[in-house]
Amino acid sequence: MRQPYALVFANAKGGVGKTTSAVHVAGAFAETGIETVLIDLDPQASATRHLGVDPDDLEVTVTDVLIDPAGGLARATVPTRYERLFCVPAHESLGQMESELANVPGREELLSDAWDAGPELPYRMAIIDVPPALSLYTVNALRLADTVLIPVQTHPFALNAVPRTLDLIDKVRRRLNPRLDLLGYLATLYDRRTRVGRECLATMEDTWGELLFREPIPINIALAEAAREGRLLFEVDANSTGAAAYYSVAAEIAERLAARRDEAVVKQAS
Ligand SMILES: Nc1ncnc2c1ncn2[C@@H]1O[C@H](COP(=O)(O)OP(=O)(O)OP(=O)(O)O)[C@@H](O)[C@H]1O
Ligand SMILES: [Mg+2]
Repeated sequence: MRQPYALVFANAKGGVGKTTSAVHVAGAFAETGIETVLIDLDPQASATRHLGVDPDDLEVTVTDVLIDPAGGLARATVPTRYERLFCVPAHESLGQMESELANVPGREELLSDAWDAGPELPYRMAIIDVPPALSLYTVNALRLADTVLIPVQTHPFALNAVPRTLDLIDKVRRRLNPRLDLLGYLATLYDRRTRVGRECLATMEDTWGELLFREPIPINIALAEAAREGRLLFEVDANSTGAAAYYSVAAEIAERLAARRDEAVVKQAS
């Protein structure tokens, strides 16, 4: 069975641009002709809303397919306002469900179970957005994913959360998903006008070398405004610095996946 290639955006620290990055990379892939699904595992449902989908309007969300995997993710998948871009919406009920799952065996594999249960998903890429702190849903996403990208705010304090993130990735790799691969680090919320911003980016370059994506995502207020409107910045202002940076990052992701000879993406991107 041919399933989409799964990429998760994760970081132990909240507010670092995970959701903004996940939706814009998904949107950029869809624009370049790659059928993409965004799977939202955050009870806040920010990615869902960012794509213009209101979780309260829906009868079935990701919560339902995690509870009962029969029928798979397809049961909850909805189209978005963007061509070739689909969404498995989150719902606030995910939050309560997490505590109810505390002692349930197999709770780390609910997403994988739903992924495997249904019909083949007709997408090439699946992009997964996870909650602010490392949670059971982050583990579920990492259990399923082929690769993980770590967005890091370009601020000295933000780097402190990276070891915790890597530790979780390592644990999941050893216990649940040996093929999980680190795709790289993405510098976000970069302010090149400040010395602290420039110094922090230099530290990231020294520390991570080629694992750091070439283009940092600048602070661009238009990104925050687009989120509030439930639109991608590509639609609102495709020439903005934020949109340009995300196009570039999506292209570099495709490049990195192609270099790893990931057939699924190479075929679509060529
Ligand atoms: N490059 C940027 N420029 C300006 N604002 C941004 C940028 N990236 C993200 N934001 C804004 O910063 C806030 C946090 O971003 P985002 O929601 O993407 O982070 P997150 O890591 O998903 O947060 P959480 O951990 O709460 O899920 C949002 O209001 C978003 O609109
Ligand atoms: Mg988020």
